[in-house]
Amino acid sequence: MILVTGGAGYIGSHAVLELLLAGEEVLVLDNLCNSSKTALDRVAQLSGRAPQFIKGDVRNRALLQALFASYPIRAVMHFAGLKAVGESVREPLRYYETNVSGSITLCQAMAEAGVFRLVFSSSATVYGESPVMPITEDRPTGTPTNPYGQSKLMAENVLKGLAESDPRWSIGLLRYFNPIGAHESGLIGEDPNGVPNNLLPYMLQVAVGRRKQLSVYGADYPTPDGTGIRDYIHVVDLVKGHLKALDRLEQVRGVSVWNLGTGKGHSVREMITAFEEVTGRPLPHVIKPRRAGDIAQCWSEPGKAWAELGWRAEKDLVTMLADAWRWQSRNPHGYAEPQENTATSSAPLSTALAS
Ligand code: NAD
Ligand code: WQD
Repeated sequence: MILVTGGAGYIGSHAVLELLLAGEEVLVLDNLCNSSKTALDRVAQLSGRAPQFIKGDVRNRALLQALFASYPIRAVMHFAGLKAVGESVREPLRYYETNVSGSITLCQAMAEAGVFRLVFSSSATVYGESPVMPITEDRPTGTPTNPYGQSKLMAENVLKGLAESDPRWSIGLLRYFNPIGAHESGLIGEDPNGVPNNLLPYMLQVAVGRRKQLSVYGADYPTPDGTGIRDYIHVVDLVKGHLKALDRLEQVRGVSVWNLGTGKGHSVREMITAFEEVTGRPLPHVIKPRRAGDIAQCWSEPGKAWAELGWRAEKDLVTMLADAWRWQSRNPHGYAEPQENTATSSAPLSTALAS
C-alpha cells in the first residue's frame, strides 16, 4: 500500500489516480484545508477503485502512528503542504510548521514503522534566482525569496540529513517546475482557494467569467518578448514521474534529486496566445508592473530523470492548455458543488482518530 499525504489536492489526486490505475492499493491522508473529498470520489469513478481515505493532519503524530500500525504501508508520496507564495509571506510560521515540521513528523512515524521509501514534493523554487538556464540538479540551491520556498529548501535539507544518518532511507526529492493542466477526462483538476496566485488558474477563471482580466506581471524582463518565461509541465506527466521515482527508490539508497520539467520555456505572452487558440476566444489582459520576487526565466534540464528513471514529459503546451480548459469549462467553480458520493471509502479509523 502507498500512503499519499495531500492526496486530495491538485497534484496528489492525479497521483492517486495513476497509482490506482497501476494496480497499487492507496491510502490518502488529507486534512482537506485546500481541497475537497469530491476529487477522490471522481478519482474512484475514473479508476474503478476507491482509495482508502482518512481525514487528518500530517502533523498529528499519534494519527500517523496509528496509520502505520493499521495499514501495510510500504512507501509514502508526500504532497501534503501549503504552497501559496503570497500567503507564506503573511503567515511564515504556519508554512514552516506544515511544510517542515509536518515532514519531520511524517519521517518520525515512518522510521518507527520501518518504512524508509519517501517521494517528496519539492520545487524549482529551491534554486532561487538562477541567471543561467537550463537548470540541472547539480546547480547549487539558492536563497528562495519567500517563506514558502525557504520551507521547501529546509525540508530538503532535513531529508538529506536524515538519509545521511541512516542508510536504510531511500528518498526522492522531486523538484517540480510549473505543473499545469488536468486529467483528460475533465473530472479532476486544479481548484485553488481564493484568488489564484498562479498564471494558468487565473487565466482559466478569466475565461469562465469569474475574473475580469489577467494582469501580466511585467513586460520589461530581459526575455524575447519581455514577459516571464517558465517551464510548464502537464500534471499527468509530473505524477507519472512520481511512479517511476517510486520504482527507482527500490534500487537505490540515500537521497536522489530529480528535476521534473519539460526542458522548454514559454513566456506569458506565448501562454496567452496559445490559450486563446485553445479556447477560441480572446483573453482580456493588461500589462502591470513586475510582481515582487518573480524571476525573469526558469526552465529545467530534465536529462537526469530520463537517464535514471526512464521518464520524460510527453505532453505539449496545447495539450496542457486544452486539458486545463476542459476541466475548468466543465467545472467553472471547481469542486464547489459537494456530491453525496460514497465511492471513496472512509475507514473506521478516521472516526476513531479524528475525534
Ligand atoms: P494542493 O494545495 O492542491 O494540495 C496539497 C494538499 O495537502 C491539499 O489537499 C491540502 O488539503 C493538503 N494539506 C495541506 N496541509 C496539510 C496537513 N497539515 N495535513 C494533511 N494534509 C494537508 O497543492 P498541489 O499543487 O497539489 O501541491 C502538492 C505539493 O506539491 C505541495 O507540497 C506543493 O508545495 C508542491 N509543489 C506544488 C507546485 C505547484 O505549482 N502546484 C510546484 C512545486 C511544488
Ligand atoms: C508564472 C509566470 C509570473 C500570475 C510559482 C511558485 C513556485 C511553484 C510554482 C509551488 C510568471 C506570471 C503569474 C498572474 C502573471 N509553486 N504571472 N500574472 O511564480 O513561476 O512559480 O508556482 O511550489 O514555487 O513560485 O508561477 O504561475 O505564479 O507565474 O503575469 O496573474 O506568470 O510573473 O512570469 P511561478 P506563476
